[in-house]
Amino acid sequence: MTADEQPATLLDVRDLHVEFRTRDGVAKAVGGVSYTVEAGQTLAVLGESGSGKSVTAQAVMGILDSPPGFVTGGEVLFRGRDLLRMGEEQRRRVRGAELAMIFQDALSSLNPVMTVGAQLGEMFEVHQGMSRKDARARAVQLMERVRIPAAADRVRDYPHQFSGGMRQRIMIAMALALEPDLIIADEPTTALDVTVQAQVMDLLAELQREFNMGLILITHDLGVVADVADKIAVMYAGRIVETAPVHDLYAAPAHPYTRGLLASIPRLDRKGRELYAIKGLPPNLTDIPSGCPFNPRCPRARDICRTDRPPLFTVAPGRASACHFWKETLDEG
Ligand SMILES: Nc1ncnc2c1ncn2[C@@H]1O[C@H](COP(=O)(O)OP(=O)(O)OP(=O)(O)O)[C@@H](O)[C@H]1O
Ligand code: SF4
Ligand SMILES: [Mg+2]
Repeated sequence: MTADEQPATLLDVRDLHVEFRTRDGVAKAVGGVSYTVEAGQTLAVLGESGSGKSVTAQAVMGILDSPPGFVTGGEVLFRGRDLLRMGEEQRRRVRGAELAMIFQDALSSLNPVMTVGAQLGEMFEVHQGMSRKDARARAVQLMERVRIPAAADRVRDYPHQFSGGMRQRIMIAMALALEPDLIIADEPTTALDVTVQAQVMDLLAELQREFNMGLILITHDLGVVADVADKIAVMYAGRIVETAPVHDLYAAPAHPYTRGLLASIPRLDRKGRELYAIKGLPPNLTDIPSGCPFNPRCPRARDICRTDRPPLFTVAPGRASACHFWKETLDEG
């Protein structure tokens, strides 16, 4: 690849809108999200609970709970093809083979009455027409690849017979089985102990490099992100409020919300500074504040913030912030 050639864009989400129509009103869960992921790249999606991280991923994967959820606008281009305009059959083929997802809770995602070997093997039988015997042999290889000890024996075990960390490895194996181009991992380690979290995260990052896959890593743990992500999208109330290469964002956030998130995690390089918590709660998505959705919680808010919604301003190449005062936020470091 020459210097001015761009890497291949795998996923190009453009102005995605999702709403939930419930008895309490219409919740605008995703209000115009755009992001791209290149081959071999990791995008971390970060934000408080309820900010729309999972719903965005579900809309991309085509597994949105509908009704009550509806995609009301936008495009999801995967290798140039709009997934939102594909038939269900075509979409199912893309899912698994080219695009796979890892969920937080392996126990509820795996079938409790099938052995893990049968579940892994089924991927190869269904998608690649392998014989049961060959499929089972591939299942053992995959289990070894995600470092499950005694894989040849454990292939006959059921999900509940594995520890949380091992189950999450099986989820990773399922996602990897058909060597997809892109994996979306939604809080893949949240349910695990801290030490196990790190091991599973390291494994995922290693496999991603080896297979040169794109990875979307959804998390609310900024600590995890620094080591594994290339770029970050920070979500608030269903929108991206800041996007940046990971090191730029850590060095100096360009949005007060990101700044609040960063200040709320312990950091070795900021020893001695007091930990900070963002005051207040995220808005009700059926009634998002006018102007900047963050204004009721923002220490920097002024009159314009209550009336004019900030668009995503370009801060630098590959960097954007939805804050009227991004420059002074950035200058503060
Ligand atoms: N099944 C549903 N029915 C109604 N509303 C829903 C449903 N699923 C999600 N929502 C709405 O979408 C919003 C975003 O949810 P989402 O699951 O994407 O949050 P999240 O950022 O993934 O949070 P978390 O960190 O807790 O996983 C929720 O706050 C809720 O208002
Ligand atoms: S636009 Fe105003 S309220 Fe919103 S983040 Fe920036 S300073 Fe805060
Ligand atoms: Mg979620």
